[in-house]
Amino acid sequence: MTKEKKTTGLAGGLTFQYENLFGEGRLTEAMMAELRPAMDAAAASMRRILETGFAKAHLSKDGTPEHVYFPRQAYLREGNPNEEASLSRLEAMGEAWRHHVDVAVFLGIGGSYLGDKVLFDLSTKPYWNQLPVSAREGRPQIYFAGNNVDGEATQGLLDMLTYQAREAGRPLRVMLVPISKSGTTMEPLSVFSAVLVYLRQHADLFRIDVTAVTGLDKDESLLYRLACENGWPALAIPEGIGGRYCILSNPGLLMGAVLGYDIRALLDGAREMVERCLSAAADDNPALLNAACKYLAAEKLGADVEVFMGYGDRLRSLGDWYVQLLSESLGKRQDREGRTVYYGRTPVVATGTTDMHSMTQQHQDGKRNKVIQFLEVTRPAVALPVANPFPQEPALDMYAGKEMDRLLKAALAANETALTGDHRCSARYILPSLEARYAGQLLMFLMLSVAYEGELADVDAFDQPGVEAYKKIMKADLAR
Ligand code: PA5
Repeated sequence: MTKEKKTTGLAGGLTFQYENLFGEGRLTEAMMAELRPAMDAAAASMRRILETGFAKAHLSKDGTPEHVYFPRQAYLREGNPNEEASLSRLEAMGEAWRHHVDVAVFLGIGGSYLGDKVLFDLSTKPYWNQLPVSAREGRPQIYFAGNNVDGEATQGLLDMLTYQAREAGRPLRVMLVPISKSGTTMEPLSVFSAVLVYLRQHADLFRIDVTAVTGLDKDESLLYRLACENGWPALAIPEGIGGRYCILSNPGLLMGAVLGYDIRALLDGAREMVERCLSAAADDNPALLNAACKYLAAEKLGADVEVFMGYGDRLRSLGDWYVQLLSESLGKRQDREGRTVYYGRTPVVATGTTDMHSMTQQHQDGKRNKVIQFLEVTRPAVALPVANPFPQEPALDMYAGKEMDRLLKAALAANETALTGDHRCSARYILPSLEARYAGQLLMFLMLSVAYEGELADVDAFDQPGVEAYKKIMKADLAR
């Protein structure tokens, strides 16, 4: 941690720049110093979680003790969420689907959807589904369903598949991938059922396969029972991996494997981050430092909104994933001692530069209750220059000859400078590129940051009791 620049991270990898969280009207070194004992305790708790899977006071929704194994996803080891055998199986599946599956429909919601969407966006080029199969190197088109119960959206998917099958003049090879840890969630289960029935009714148009991803417990998971009864392959959502923390195990890695993403490098990056983030010394622990800054901003400055603003379209789904991670992990009525605390802050996803033309006005002039968290990727996947086809219009010369990424970065820097000029809180994550290793670093960094903040605030970052209230009401209604 350099005092002046306030930058930390992994050498050659993810960087966390946080100097703009400090200064007039923002955090102080004294606030940080006051938090040191709690940070020491948080680091000790995280080491215990990694070593034993034990997190203070964490119980499953049926009230029994439940392990927390999310950091172990980074370590390929027997008994861990990922083993050499499970990874090889995923890679073999990815290869087997290549040239043999035209369309894969992933059906999940919450943690069983959001991580897959991130890995889809990281693995593919834009307009993936519209590209010819040669440009996709035989990999399937990917669609998402069951992340809502929307009849119109589901019918639209079925209509589109039907048109495709008719145009192909041969049965469309469709792989359905229902994903649900509990195996009973309304949205994926009901949409999966509707889709399966339709495809079976049109057997002349479709050849259907199913791969289920769920908890492998027949008593608990209806989806697993169906997989066993129907002879569908089933991948485990392992014990100790909650939905919003599962992106680096089977539910997320399957997407990567199917699209030829380097899932081993993804885990390498995640492991580098775990190992960097176990120290009690904040200077050596970027995730703990991030958590401490956000916690202090909330407690001392009233920053109850965090805007996650990635510059570039491919980062949008990462923001959506982070929204769930932050909301479900930290939005808690009670702390782990049973005291009413109403902890948490509201996450907001923004995309740069798009939302500079909608939200930035609020960020710059609205309530001083926000941290704007920027995400920048240093090396773009594509270097596309802008030209001026209208030499008679010199106003366009300003952009001509510059790569689009140069404009993107100018916008980010300007946004940050404007906020800082008004003593507003912002910070920046910087990734060298969106290669799998750096993506793994970032994903694990964010999961660790949220888990660390749970320790600092003394709330259980691994349960979500608040969602039971509406579920009870809805189930009673649907049972009538
Ligand atoms: O983080 C969580 O646990 C939830 O958001 C779940 O992922 C979501 O409710 C879906 O649950 P399931 O995977 O059991 O269908």
